[in-house]
Amino acid sequence: MGEQKKIGILTSGGDCAGLNAVIRAVTQRAVGTYNWEVLGICRATNGLMHRPPQVITLAPDNVDALLTKGGTVLGTTNKGNPFAFPMPDGTLRDRSDDIIEGYHQLGLDALIGIGGDGSLAILRKIALQGNLNFVAIPKTIDNDVGVTERSIGFDTAVNIATEALDRLHFTAASHDRVMILEVMGRDAGHIAISAGIAGGADVILIPEIPYTLENVCRKIKERQERGQHFSVVIVSEAVCTEAGEVVTNSDRFGGCRLGGIGQYLADRISASSGAETRVTVLGHIQRGGIPSPLDRLLASAFGVAAVDLIAAGQYDQIVTWQNRQVVNVPIESAISKYQAVDANSTLVKTARGLGICLGD
Ligand code: F6P
Repeated sequence: MGEQKKIGILTSGGDCAGLNAVIRAVTQRAVGTYNWEVLGICRATNGLMHRPPQVITLAPDNVDALLTKGGTVLGTTNKGNPFAFPMPDGTLRDRSDDIIEGYHQLGLDALIGIGGDGSLAILRKIALQGNLNFVAIPKTIDNDVGVTERSIGFDTAVNIATEALDRLHFTAASHDRVMILEVMGRDAGHIAISAGIAGGADVILIPEIPYTLENVCRKIKERQERGQHFSVVIVSEAVCTEAGEVVTNSDRFGGCRLGGIGQYLADRISASSGAETRVTVLGHIQRGGIPSPLDRLLASAFGVAAVDLIAAGQYDQIVTWQNRQVVNVPIESAISKYQAVDANSTLVKTARGLGICLGD
């Protein structure tokens, strides 16, 4: 048994299925194998800014039921960059030193951060600034973190989007409609291409492949001419209008979210093909719910490996999934490479091979 340690764990960025399974795995490994103390930090770095720092003591008994629980019991946020943190008086303040101080106040020996590329870049910057021992675990339904083939939450989101397509097929066929499913994924089309193939979509539109409405409508008309008076389309939220404009919604917090391309397509497809169209925006359903078995496996493997990195004194590392194994690499290499869908990838070739229209 090595030296006694106290480690912190936090979840950061948008939630997804499988975060609690990581918290469970980290706790079981750290407490069960190494007999360390594990503190769960509340609401991402906000818990370390708070005085006293807001934490939950994690023990194998209280994480037992977390394997299948959606969301994150620690809470999270995808707002409020600590380097320009919105203060109650309306000003922006650099709170990075408060986070570093929170880490020391808790007497932490190391910190595990579970996040996507944006939040991991912020956490790494803070760790370098404060010389903190930091290990990262990738999560995001968008699956856009570089180097790792998979991030926690992606598989569950694909399962949910696929099930939505399965359901839409029945109602599309019953009413001779074109059903359009708009899915998340930020700037990458991973959810759409995977669910589109798995769910038998007729058209898949992703931001990485430019499309024309003419090509999309041609596919729908071809199907109509063959007696298939319905079609199912899946579109990534970041797909632009034909004129190249990103479609967004703004909110009262000043945020700007992707969304609305489904309705844009529906209006034009209806006008051009004469088909009745309906739009389903899947939204946050993709982030919620029980993690798939694959996400539970990934979460468990990543959690154990992250703790083992700390035991080995290896920091500034991220655990990744490559060729059926967990491989650790410098965090920098994962966050410096944005992983969009490769237009020459097997999945894109598969979609084309199946006769699915990609709009180009
Ligand atoms: O990054 C995850 C994600 O779900 C994106 O796919 C989506 O664009 C965004 O977060 C939605 O963010 P919010 O939860 O702030 O609406």
